[in-house]
Amino acid sequence: MDKIVINGGKPLNGEVIISGAKNAVLPIMTACVIEPGKYTLNNVPDLRDTRTMGRLIEMIGGSVQFHNNSMQINTINCDKPVAPYELVKTMRASFYVLGPFMSRYNYAEVSLPGGCAWGPRPVDFHLKALEAMGATISLERGNLISKGELHGAEIDFEKVSVGATGNTLMAALKANGKTIINNAACEPDITDLVDFLSKLGGDIKGRDTTKLTIQGMPELNGGFEYDIIPDRIEAGTFLIGVALTGGEVTLRNVNPEHLGVVISKLKEVGTDIQSDDNSITIRSSKKINPVDMTTAAYPGFPTDLQAQWMALMCLASGDSTIIDDIYHDRFTHMAELSRFGANLHLVDNVASVKGIEKFYGAPVMSTDIRASASLILAALAADGKSEISRIYHIDRGYENIELKLQGLGADIKRTKA
Ligand code: UD1
Repeated sequence: MDKIVINGGKPLNGEVIISGAKNAVLPIMTACVIEPGKYTLNNVPDLRDTRTMGRLIEMIGGSVQFHNNSMQINTINCDKPVAPYELVKTMRASFYVLGPFMSRYNYAEVSLPGGCAWGPRPVDFHLKALEAMGATISLERGNLISKGELHGAEIDFEKVSVGATGNTLMAALKANGKTIINNAACEPDITDLVDFLSKLGGDIKGRDTTKLTIQGMPELNGGFEYDIIPDRIEAGTFLIGVALTGGEVTLRNVNPEHLGVVISKLKEVGTDIQSDDNSITIRSSKKINPVDMTTAAYPGFPTDLQAQWMALMCLASGDSTIIDDIYHDRFTHMAELSRFGANLHLVDNVASVKGIEKFYGAPVMSTDIRASASLILAALAADGKSEISRIYHIDRGYENIELKLQGLGADIKRTKA
């Protein structure tokens, strides 16, 4: 199994191009199934997860070609609305086929995703929404079977859910009548999905707001080209990395508007940040003020940057508190950060971070995508050598991370264990 080896202590300097957004492209890939056609998606990150989703589309009868971040998806011959356990267990985003399958076939067989590395991740909102729209859902040998012609309904999510908003939007697109989603997620990934579905001919009102109204349309226009938005989480990871190591880096192909709260927190930390329409430049002198942070739905601080933020706060000149209000158990990185010398304490979903002067390089282990990113950032800032194992997690969510960091002057390489 591959490992990442880092000799830490070097500042990051230069320019890096941010890839397309993983969390936007995965549901959009499944949305290509709703209406038979030949689609071209551009700015698609070359990741384990985008390749896994490609395999899923092939398993249901479609074809997928992927070169130079452009993906051709042909869904004309898709005829098997089944997402098996083998795929769903490796990537929960496979669950996004539920809405598209119901839209196209009035039938879906999707393995019920279990928990994940950081605890339970329920799907009850997705199922209740489909039931309100007329689906009959049963569980057979771990697989959810959903059947029935869908009609419009008013759905009130008790909590903001990116996944349930996406699935419901896709299910409602061809349903009979009007669907209203109250308390909808307005993450940029959802807005990108709304834009894709609107291009498909969907009638969706309330883009970028917490109330989405979808008028079901019997006819759509499948088959077109679409550009995926930049990945705000990858961008945020690089920004936090520079804050940790010091240096000056310009991020290209990024949307600064998607990172509002992250940028303002990084300014509180003591970095200097300038941005224009599609680039951000960060300068850091390694001065790190302690800044408390609580994750929240967009436009709040993303849960997907919580682990990286913790790595940063470990080296702050004082104490801070980090609360994850989206996923209360998402703290597996703490035990690994402690191996670098971090001083951390967790009660429920509240982590107390005591700032320390230095990290010391150590062998550590990745536990999930974002936890791995936090370990890489900590290792870049640490004195001495670190080895990060189980890095297949990082390959799920970051394209060419070691090449991008090498381009910024980091001493990082991938080795075979
Ligand atoms: C969440 C994040 C998303 C991130 C992803 C992977 C939010 C709002 N969502 O999305 O930005 O990219 O993790 O890290 O920040 N919930 C239920 N029942 C459901 C669905 C969700 O109780 O059926 C709860 C979850 O337990 C969680 C909250 O609602 O506490 C938000 O979940 P949701 O947005 O659906 O999770 P993801 O789509 O995984």
